[in-house]
Order: sequence, then C-alpha cells, then structure tokens
Amino acid sequence: MLFSNARLGGSIHDIRVSDAKILSIAAPGSLVRQPDEEVVRGGWLTPPMAEPHVHLDAALLGARMPNRSGTLREGIANWSVLRATLTESDVRARALQTAEMYARRGTLRIRTHVDTGNLMAVQTLVELKPELAGHGIELEVVAFPQEGIFRAPDRRAQWEAAIALGVDCVGAIPHFERTTEEGWQSVHLAFDLAERNGLKLDFHCDESDDPHSRNLEVVCAEAIDRGYAGRVVAGHCTALHSYNHPYAEKVMELVATAGVQVIANPLDNVVLQGRYDRYPRRRGITRVDELWRFGATVGIGHDSVQDPWYRLGQAHMLDPAHMLVHVGQLTGERDMERVVETLWTENHLPFGDIPVLAEGQPARMLWWPVDTAVDLLIQRPLPRVFRG
Ligand code: FE2
Repeated sequence: MLFSNARLGGSIHDIRVSDAKILSIAAPGSLVRQPDEEVVRGGWLTPPMAEPHVHLDAALLGARMPNRSGTLREGIANWSVLRATLTESDVRARALQTAEMYARRGTLRIRTHVDTGNLMAVQTLVELKPELAGHGIELEVVAFPQEGIFRAPDRRAQWEAAIALGVDCVGAIPHFERTTEEGWQSVHLAFDLAERNGLKLDFHCDESDDPHSRNLEVVCAEAIDRGYAGRVVAGHCTALHSYNHPYAEKVMELVATAGVQVIANPLDNVVLQGRYDRYPRRRGITRVDELWRFGATVGIGHDSVQDPWYRLGQAHMLDPAHMLVHVGQLTGERDMERVVETLWTENHLPFGDIPVLAEGQPARMLWWPVDTAVDLLIQRPLPRVFRG
C-alpha cells in the first residue's frame, strides 16, 4: 500500500506499507506506485489513539435503567442495582462490543476500571485481555472499588481479592470514603497493595466540587516517597477546579514533581459536576491549561460509554477532545492541536510508552482524511484503522 503526499509528524511524505510493516518513509513524490498497489493520496498518518479511563463493566447499560435526574448520585444508585444482575456473558458481550467500537474509531489501547463489588466482572475483563490482543486491542484493567473500601465490611476484602485476579492497576476512590482520614488511608493502602504486587496505580481522585476534597496532594506525596513517578494516574481531579489559587498552585507543582498523570474526563464531568450550584454553575473540569503550564502530564478519558452516568457517546476519542477544548477554553490554535495530539501521545503514557511510526515498525496506525488537528475537531471523521 502506498500513502502518497501524506502528513506524518510535522511534514509530508510518501510511505509504503507491506505485510503490516512500514517499509519506507520517503520524500513526497519519490515513491512510484507498484503493480497491484493501493494508493491513498493526502491525509494524515498518526499512531493509534489510547483510552486511559473508561468503565467497560458498565458500558452500554444506560438504557437498561435510565438515569432520570442525570446526576452522579442516581448513576451510582442505578449502578448498584444493575451490578447485582450482571452475568458473565453480559459483561463479556458489552465489553467486546465497546472495545470494538473504540477500535473502529482508532483507539487500540484501553484502560478500564472495573468495580470490585462484582468479582465476576473483574475476572471476566481480565480474561478478555488475550482475546482482545488477538484483535489488535491492548486492554489494561484497574481494580476499582466504586463505593470505597471502608463503607461496608466486605468492600476491602473484595478489593484485595480483585488484585489477585491478575489486574494491571490498583484503583481507589478516596474522596468517596466516609471521612477525610479514611480517604487518605485508602491512598496509603492502595500504594501498599501496588508495591506488594508490582502494579501501577490509578485513582478516581477528588471527583467533587468540594474545594476541601484534598486527596491529590496525598497521592503525589506517596508517589514521590515511594518512587512511583510515571506509574500513577489521578482521574477526574475536578475539585482542583474549585481550590483557592494559592492551594491549587501548590498542588499542581506537586503533581508535576511527582510525575502523577492527571486524566480529565470532560464528557461525564461537565454534566455531573456543578449539580449543587444554582447560578453561576461551575464547569466540572480540572485545570488542564494550568496543569500544562506547571509542566504536568495530562490525558483525556471518555470515562463512560452509554452507561448509568453518561447516556451518550460512541467511544470516539475525538468527542472528549472536542468537549475539552470547549469547557477547558482551549480554543487557541496551539491548544487545540495539543488536545488532539494528546490522544496519540500522552494518552499512551499510562500503558508505558508513546508509539512512534518509523521504518521497520509495525503498521499499527491511523489514516485520517484531513491533515490538521483543527480539521479533526471540526469534522470528527472516522479514521482508516491499521491494527498492525
Ligand atoms: Fe471514572
């Protein structure tokens, strides 16, 4: 296959692909079409996108028990009912269907949180990893105690049991524990578990409008003290939106120093946060522009695909990117480019590396019918996906 005059990185090239490998990258106009070779003209070749934060165990369940108020509270209540009714074949079918929705839209790495309140679901998702790998999709699983580990006597035991099932990351939800101290304790216990089992960490952290929800600083301090830079993700961090500025600056500096990656989830948070406000009503989004300024690493998650918290979404990562440029006020030309490029750069970091397209490498890549980031946001097209 010959890509003629296609954008790759910052410039235009001819690229030849054969046997699912990138054979050559040459000057534009320099490669001559061979007999029986398909030629694709123009466009943009990029690495595949990565999804750092979704809940596949809950995906596509939104229609089964509609969230009438659209609130986080009702979403959690509905989920606790639905969770008890799940069967293995149901979890498997929805996870496979959602993963394929992601793949067809250009996302070939997916990190899913799975509620440890249903160990069958955790097991099912862990067992799907080799099957999805066969479809060119890399899956990571986070053991996520949706209702915290201290609210009921069995929660902590289930969370610890989930770790033994072969997950990749320890999760926790410190802001949802009963007390501030129990939240901090859950962070310490999560690091203990991760250290003991050689796992990475991925927190639902301060997903609240409460400026006193202050777990991110504890996550960062632990990451520094235990040498966990680059292996810790803090998702949501919406309380950072509402912190006073001197405290927010202290925390953002700590995030950058600790090497903790913040994942913004703009689709869910713009509809779930600010619900206790009358007017003015806050945007439920972490401080992406300021985190960038402090040198912190940021990623973008879809979070929900048609689930009890967010009824919409098609697992197309350009949708949360599109929402982020709006609610994060990142509509400067360079900001829009940075948001889009995050989908195939920083979004991969939780998995351990950022893919590059080079000669001799597998042709695991996307071809887009446009060649600028802003046009991707305008059109949100489907890419042609090469799974390598
Ligand atoms: Fe989440």
